[in-house]
Amino acid sequence: MPAEAVRMEGIVKRFPGVVANAGIDFSLHWGEVHGLLGENGAGKTVLMSILYGLYQPNQGRIFFRGKETKIRSPHVAIQLGIGMVHQHFMLVPRLTVLENMAVGWEPRIGPLLDRRAMRRRIESLISDYGLEVDPDARVEELSVGEQQRVEILKALYRGAEVLILDEPTAVLVEQEVEALFSTVRALKEQGKAVVFITHKLHEALEICDRITVLRRGKNVGTLPASEATEERLAEMMVGREVVFTVTPEPVSSQGQVLLSVEGLQARDDRGVPAVRGVSFEVYDHEILGIAGVQGNGQKELVEAIAGLRQPTGGRVRVGERELTGQSPSKLAAQGLVHIPEDRHLRGLILTFSVEENAVLGRHRQPRFAVGPWAQRRRAIRIYAQELVERFSVSVPSLSAPVRTLSGGNQQRLILARELSRDPQVIVAVQPTRGLDVGGMEFVWEQFLEARRNGAGILLVSMDLDEVMMLADRIAVMYQGEIVAVVRRGEATKRELGLLMLRGKGAVD
Ligand SMILES: Nc1ncnc2c1ncn2[C@@H]1O[C@H](COP(=O)(O)OP(=O)(O)OP(=O)(O)O)[C@@H](O)[C@H]1O
Ligand SMILES: [Mg+2]
Repeated sequence: MPAEAVRMEGIVKRFPGVVANAGIDFSLHWGEVHGLLGENGAGKTVLMSILYGLYQPNQGRIFFRGKETKIRSPHVAIQLGIGMVHQHFMLVPRLTVLENMAVGWEPRIGPLLDRRAMRRRIESLISDYGLEVDPDARVEELSVGEQQRVEILKALYRGAEVLILDEPTAVLVEQEVEALFSTVRALKEQGKAVVFITHKLHEALEICDRITVLRRGKNVGTLPASEATEERLAEMMVGREVVFTVTPEPVSSQGQVLLSVEGLQARDDRGVPAVRGVSFEVYDHEILGIAGVQGNGQKELVEAIAGLRQPTGGRVRVGERELTGQSPSKLAAQGLVHIPEDRHLRGLILTFSVEENAVLGRHRQPRFAVGPWAQRRRAIRIYAQELVERFSVSVPSLSAPVRTLSGGNQQRLILARELSRDPQVIVAVQPTRGLDVGGMEFVWEQFLEARRNGAGILLVSMDLDEVMMLADRIAVMYQGEIVAVVRRGEATKRELGLLMLRGKGAVD
């Protein structure tokens, strides 16, 4: 019998209107990577937040190293040797990597001495676990992948023996996933225990020793990864068979240009040119995919189109109208909606309720803005209720703050709000990030329906499989430029991958 690091027994956690954990048993061994899977809202983050001391269970017991333990706060968890890296990072952007290590963990000895010891310790952790990052860089200058490494470093620096990673790969590109996997393997070789939450079944099969599936707050099974298949896991998660692909049916464009981008230029946050003369058109009944390795200007491109970043040159037209640099609301009035990558920064107001967020951007419409308060409120409520039902967003209640929704359900709410505008043009960035298999399928279907109805869709995704499956044409972006445009089926995954990594001339 492998030694048990953690055992959770009969964990129950209720919130007003939801039972997030309905009596869960879960065990974690030393030296194992344990996958935690389940649909959006299944209770994964809540269960692990209980282990990390963020929430107190209403019922149930936790054993750590064989002893029953009350984990009253994250501080207690950290002292026990339990660390957690959240879905959204909690670093201080203005501070350096080293300075972030000390946040909430004040040095006890003289500052100078301690700093040197700290640096040595951090450097050895970096090399032991392959967590490549510059200790003196400011966090705000780091890529998402590097920030994640800093979070892992921070947990290890504080002595984590059990490490919980909540959807760590959702924000990573393929190469970074490989690096993370080597880190996870190194942790395992050191005998540490890792909980790995993910929606990507192939990842769970690759990196995990055992996998536990949650469904509606219950553990529906724990099995060795060697006995699992994607189909079996998916069926455990949703209780039915699911398909992993959709097939766009042939539709013909009427040759109408819905979105036209001409010689567009934009700078990144540091003022460096990031979009360097990009031109393309999106036609009616068409999905144009933008493939590329993260950081090649896609973010700036989309922001420049969507009115969130002032272009430094070039033009954007929606239909007949030139709308270069116009505000998101002007663009929305012309039928362009934007599904942003960062749902916390752009898409939602976390402290506002579900219903307030559902009408965000539409709150000035007469039915929501004119008339007696009670009547307006009713209109908002009915509208929000419809959205939530149509898009199966699971919410504690319509008046609950959006921050209490699970990560995937926050994403669903944005999609529901934006897609229900019947847009002519959809500009979507990583729309399925953080969604479970059912949710992904649902979003793909929605895009295909919009395409069937004549919309033009600009789909920016780091997930090449997703782009290849959905897009009628694929534009590859490399160092701020479009280096190739191919039609569906014209290039192999390998050829596209090479273009993404090396730009023009990669496939001669
Ligand atoms: N602080 C809170 N207040 C009220 N309800 C909450 C709170 N935190 C979570 N919930 C609810 O508990 C349920 C489980 O949420 P949890 O975040 O654990 O889901 P998850 O499995 O991590 O999903 P996802 O894959 O979308 O991240 C959800 O219905 C969520 O709305
Ligand atoms: Mg979660």
